[in-house]
Amino acid sequence: MTDALRSWLEGAAADRERAGLTRRLGARASGADTVDLAGNDYLGLLRHPAVVSGAVSAAREWGGGAGASRLVTGTLALHQTLERELAAWCGRPAALVTSTGYAANLAAVTALADADTLVVSDAHVHASLVDGARLARGAVEVVPHRDVAAVAEALSRRTQPRALVLVESVWSVLGDASPLAELLEVCECHDATLLVDEAHGLGTAGEAGRGLAAVLRPPDATRLVVTVTLSKALGSQGGAVLGDPLVLEHLVNTARPFIFDTGLAPAAAGAALAALRVLAAEPERVERLRGAAHRLASTVGVQSPAGGVLAVRMASAHEATRTQALMATHGVRVGCFRPPSVPDGISRLRLTASAGLRDEQLDIACEVLRRALGTTAAESGEPVDPALGGGGADPDGTRVALVPTYGTGAAPDPSGEPAP
Ligand SMILES: Cc1ncc(COP(=O)(O)O)c(C=O)c1O
Repeated sequence: MTDALRSWLEGAAADRERAGLTRRLGARASGADTVDLAGNDYLGLLRHPAVVSGAVSAAREWGGGAGASRLVTGTLALHQTLERELAAWCGRPAALVTSTGYAANLAAVTALADADTLVVSDAHVHASLVDGARLARGAVEVVPHRDVAAVAEALSRRTQPRALVLVESVWSVLGDASPLAELLEVCECHDATLLVDEAHGLGTAGEAGRGLAAVLRPPDATRLVVTVTLSKALGSQGGAVLGDPLVLEHLVNTARPFIFDTGLAPAAAGAALAALRVLAAEPERVERLRGAAHRLASTVGVQSPAGGVLAVRMASAHEATRTQALMATHGVRVGCFRPPSVPDGISRLRLTASAGLRDEQLDIACEVLRRALGTTAAESGEPVDPALGGGGADPDGTRVALVPTYGTGAAPDPSGEPAP
């Protein structure tokens, strides 16, 4: 038995190595002065004194953990304060805090979809939504990325009484935005529920960083369900589902990833609450993030993103890791996405802007990017329409286009690993 497992593991490791797909954990040193274009600390709040002291005082008051699942004794007054303030900030009627953003998506999808529900999923949704759809065990239809007509078509053909449409507001890898108003209209038209994952929209997009869904006001609030993570712009850990109280009550009673999971740790809740208050009090952070994103985008020749994420398409997985490693030697960390973490098989560098980047760090980042990508054009400020692709190939062919275009043919199964 052990031999069978060992030979399978060794074979799989050798396959990954040959394809340039081996992942390795690299620890970062505390206080290391690398320029981070790989993390999700969009607003530079991770080490903000108010956020750190929010964590410390919550741990002092409530202890190291919530002590139990939320339905037993693990609901703290602190969770409820966070829920109220999150819901108000995001323009939704109510919120339910979960232990991670991953759990928020699993809880929402599994509670809202069953065998009588068609799940219509954009081909690029995060692994947590994919896994939720799989656990829900109903029919799933994967539609091409940002294709509202394909969503409408799938909904109009459905035989199930209910339908749930899964999208992200700001997409975690490409950084583009979903046409949420159109999607909501289609959902109204076909009596479907729209689930919007704001993991990369909260704190980065929409008015004052409220996310892109904050302005949506469906006549019936059960039409729209929003999920967020507390681990990105809010610099903490945890997640939440936001929506109509009737929806959240259903989750509390039926969502296994919520019911059978210990409540969010007090320190994480305290940090997230403090971060939310800093976000509200310091809107200039969102402006600074946008300025940094614009500068990075013009350096690599793509359109300014809706939030803080942008993607650079690479010729191969090897090329992506080689460029990532090269940039790391110059003190700049970028993300690298390769199959199976990408829905379309295309390897990319993923860059994230942050309000926490100092001006001189941004200067270094842009210079290293220009060299590593062979970009000769200086920051032109000329936006390149992502729909057209952009950038072109550099002389040694390492860069083929900066932003991919997607056809409307059958989308690949979005199986994959979580995009950070
Ligand atoms: C789009 C999206 N949704 C959900 C998650 C999960 O959030 P968390 O890391 O807080 O579990 C992530 C983060 O990886 C994400 O990028």
